[in-house]
Amino acid sequence: MTAKASQSAMRTVEAKGFKIPTVGLGTWALRGRDCVRLTEQAIRIGYRHIDTAQMYDNEREVGEGVRASGLRAEVMVTTKVQPTMLAPHDLERSVKESLARLRLDAIDLLLIHWPNPRVPLAETLGAMAKMKREGHTRQIGVSNFTVALLDEVNKISSEPLICDQIECHPFLNQDKVISACRRHGMAVVAYSPIARGGAPGNKVLEKIGKAHGKTASQVCLRWLIQQGIVVIPRTSRVERLKENFDIFDFELSNAEMREIRGLAHGSGRIVDWTWSPRWD
Ligand SMILES: NC(=O)c1ccc[n+]([C@@H]2O[C@H](COP(=O)([O-])OP(=O)(O)OC[C@H]3O[C@@H](n4cnc5c(N)ncnc54)[C@H](OP(=O)(O)O)[C@@H]3O)[C@@H](O)[C@H]2O)c1
Repeated sequence: MTAKASQSAMRTVEAKGFKIPTVGLGTWALRGRDCVRLTEQAIRIGYRHIDTAQMYDNEREVGEGVRASGLRAEVMVTTKVQPTMLAPHDLERSVKESLARLRLDAIDLLLIHWPNPRVPLAETLGAMAKMKREGHTRQIGVSNFTVALLDEVNKISSEPLICDQIECHPFLNQDKVISACRRHGMAVVAYSPIARGGAPGNKVLEKIGKAHGKTASQVCLRWLIQQGIVVIPRTSRVERLKENFDIFDFELSNAEMREIRGLAHGSGRIVDWTWSPRWD
């Protein structure tokens, strides 16, 4: 596929008939007026996907930025239910509170942020499906779910699960969970896609970037989207919004893809799972 042909093919990733814009803005740690401004600016640049969560304490600002852009209808907004809110009554209340903070017509994609083994999954999924049926969210999915959990939820959910949002970048091998997503027809959404700033400065990514006139971060993001993975890089700098979005006009060769794959190592995980009740 030429870079031009692949460009249009990769602007969205389709899962179960739902199209997810391939590059989204991550908003963890963005706060206040900066968060409003960056969200609005990102949409002006071309982003059509914004990622927030109840835990990030910025749903109000994200909603304000989306409305200020004037392009609400074109933008997919994801939020996530925190793991302490997975009992049905808590989930329903917290989703309605999220919507009130976002001040949007509906959430586009609602995710279970982390699994919580203290709440039966069937109960949580029942409440998620109800939120969809009642129009509070258009689609539902999960985040930080393991292969075993993906197998389980896809058996019991009455509504299609669109994605698993997971930590994913060249320094971490996520092949098993990516294969499970493919098997279940779910999209993979990569969080921490530039390894929280670990991509810039990496020798391999810098070298490949130089050959294409791109930065290491752009190569890192391109490596993911070229595998059909959605990316949600975060930045607090307007100039980097453009850099992180400008990844559709070049293509990595098979040899470059393989070389980047070789960067994975055993201690590549960034986000600490140990804070959460483990279920794997
Ligand atoms: N579902 C989950 O459990 C979960 C967990 C973690 C994250 N997430 C989501 O995923 C999003 C992204 O992940 P993340 O925030 O952990 O990490 P990330 O996007 O991989 O990295 C963000 C860091 O990289 C820097 N950066 C951004 N663009 C850059 C560029 N072009 N060149 C150099 N440095 C750059 C940023 O600094 P500057 O601000 O200075 O640019 C920031 O420090 C989050 O914001 C959140 O929405 C979800």
